[in-house]
Amino acid sequence: MDEHSLREEIKRLIRDYYELRFADAKREDVPVSGKVFDSEELSAIVDAALDGHWTEGKYSLIFEQKLKEFIGVSHAMVVNSGSSANLLAFMTLCSYQLGERRIQKGDEVITVAAGFPTTINPIIQAGCIPVFCDINLGTYDINIVHLNKAISRKTKAIMLAHTLGNPFNVDAVVDVCKKHGLWLIEDNCDGLGSTYAEKLTGTFGDISTISFYPAHHITLAEGGAVCTNNPKLSKIARSIRDWGRDCYCKTGRDNTCGKRFGHRLGDLPEGYDHKYIYSELGYNLKNTDINIAIGIPQLAKLPGFIEKRKENFKALHDRFAKWEKYFILPKATEQADPSWFGFPLTLTERFPTKRAEFLRFLAEKKIATRLLFGGNITKQPYFKAYGIPYRVAESLANTDIVMNNAFWIGVSPLTGAAEIEKVISAFEEYLKENL
Ligand SMILES: Cc1ncc(COP(=O)(O)O)c(C=O)c1O
Repeated sequence: MDEHSLREEIKRLIRDYYELRFADAKREDVPVSGKVFDSEELSAIVDAALDGHWTEGKYSLIFEQKLKEFIGVSHAMVVNSGSSANLLAFMTLCSYQLGERRIQKGDEVITVAAGFPTTINPIIQAGCIPVFCDINLGTYDINIVHLNKAISRKTKAIMLAHTLGNPFNVDAVVDVCKKHGLWLIEDNCDGLGSTYAEKLTGTFGDISTISFYPAHHITLAEGGAVCTNNPKLSKIARSIRDWGRDCYCKTGRDNTCGKRFGHRLGDLPEGYDHKYIYSELGYNLKNTDINIAIGIPQLAKLPGFIEKRKENFKALHDRFAKWEKYFILPKATEQADPSWFGFPLTLTERFPTKRAEFLRFLAEKKIATRLLFGGNITKQPYFKAYGIPYRVAESLANTDIVMNNAFWIGVSPLTGAAEIEKVISAFEEYLKENL
């Protein structure tokens, strides 16, 4: 058999294997989220492995191109997680190449305390001061009155996530950035496919990020991306991602600049190999072609995933309307059409028990729940242990309500009518027993 025929045979076997092992797999639980795939993703992984290249290569080029087209940005680069994407986006804005506008140690960066740790950690890791604003209940986005009050002489940037896929008030946030000359870092890890004023999230910030962890809208197993329309930021980000190198050859290529041994940079001798010249303070945050190959069939499935998430959200919302006394129901921000990551609920004062008791009951019924990430991040053990300096803009009253009383359930494509029925009957049973 020649190579092509062998590969076709392997693909046929993968399809059979998928049918046997995964196609009809029954689950008892109601998951919050998880990867959704078929034999195409398995074939993509095996194809990339059989190519023998493994590190970033041809699948990365295809995926980055398709991702750019989907989101509508001119530059996208894949990294190994959403957290790496946030770190890279932030460190890019700290580059000396940005002159006066670079974010520096001691500068303030506005964000919210009700969030995921790695939206906030890059601010701290760069020696900057996070300034926390409160959020609105129901939408879980930044309180704009507090945002305006948070600005100081030291403010350099705003770094915000579209929490659980619900876009923040983009118009108001962008206005504040323009008025005060601030960078906007848009953490779009939860919001792939969400729109604000009919434009996809991830296109509003100077730089934006995505996560491809299996819980998210599409997956590369582990992975993330940084997007921007700014060529200078893209060039800096790619360098920081790739060890800080000045050379911009793709992996496996040499001498793209045409003068590999003709540069004189820093205090290095003339002709020092461009491959080993570092003009940035870099990391290695790259991903592998084996992971990135999964993204190509995943991206093709994304429009269907987004529709399913919206459909599940609506079905749950309709069924929960009768319980508005007991839960603050989620709602989209004005002008937003979210590609929901989850269905957040906040217990009202009329809810009969403590949250932990209720979540324990749901876990026994095999209904998975998650909290709104770190709750109030300033109360997390590492904040105190490291004595992390921060400022609170006004108060974190709603953030504390979220920390104490909010949680979310799944709307991913793994949820269907049967799962929704299970959820509703479990909630009904609990309320009946405890009211
Ligand atoms: C808003 C937000 N930002 C960043 C991340 C980090 O992404 P990753 O898990 O890919 O590192 C997450 C993870 O769920 C997230 O929800």
